[in-house]
Amino acid sequence: MPDHPVPERAPDRFADLGRIVVVLPTYDEAENLDWLVGRLRAAVPEADVLVVDDGSPDGTGELADRLAAVDDGVRVLHRQSKEGLGAAYLAGFRIALEAGYDVVAEMDADGSHQPEQLPALLAALRTADLVIGSRWVPGGRVVNWPLRRKVLSVGGNAYTRILLGIPVRDATAGFRVFRRSTLEQIDLTDVRSHGYVFQTDLTVRTLRAGLRVVEVPIEFVERSRGASKMTPRIAADSLLRITRWGLSERIARLRGRRAKHSADAVR
Ligand code: GDD
Ligand code: MN
Repeated sequence: MPDHPVPERAPDRFADLGRIVVVLPTYDEAENLDWLVGRLRAAVPEADVLVVDDGSPDGTGELADRLAAVDDGVRVLHRQSKEGLGAAYLAGFRIALEAGYDVVAEMDADGSHQPEQLPALLAALRTADLVIGSRWVPGGRVVNWPLRRKVLSVGGNAYTRILLGIPVRDATAGFRVFRRSTLEQIDLTDVRSHGYVFQTDLTVRTLRAGLRVVEVPIEFVERSRGASKMTPRIAADSLLRITRWGLSERIARLRGRRAKHSADAVR
């Protein structure tokens, strides 16, 4: 059974933003889920939670069902197999929009993104269309990452920023809040990025739609339980896709027209 108290009555600090849901993708997070959901419900009782589990072999899905059984604010989407972080988010977003939520948040389920920092992201959404919890703006930081992960993230973000010509310092970040209107405008049915590069794809789409993206500094704490699902292959796939988007945008510009969207060329 979950060992956290279920919030009795939500305060309404964010009533002006409407109904909020946090989409939590999970793959083998049984050691983290109860702890994380408990912290989330305590820190932001205004927000509901939608766990999106990809048939985790370690029983995360069943654990999520047990949390949902005792807390109306928690729901679970079970998917058959591991299809990638982006695919899980797309499925979760679809359900969140169908259910009528006004704000859709993303965060990792391993404790790297701290629920206690979510209110700062929500507050910033009052004057933005997408808020990114950023490791790489002043005030942001990463705790306990090995040097190679830091280099990959800083390097990957610099490459993305320059190649795609975007002003965002942490375009790959997975701690964010979207307005419903943002997700509606960027046409999710058109998104083909199923891996971690999904994050960069949505950042670019939001900017290209002329919407306002704001970065709020966060402290990212590397997980202490379980293992990362990021692999060298996923990282390489991300860099490859970003390179293709950047090049196809440049080619379209040279030809005197603008690509409808950078991702269109890579389908
Ligand atoms: N449902 C589902 N399906 N969940 C997944 C999948 C998948 O295929 N792959 C990963 N997840 C979940 C994990 O269970 C975790 O809750 C969250 O997604 C993040 O996965 P990690 O494997 O812990 O990511 P990381 O810590 O290595 O990567 C961090 O940096 C990335 C690049 O900046 C995260 O913050 C990512 O969100 C971020 O994109
Ligand atoms: Mn992680």
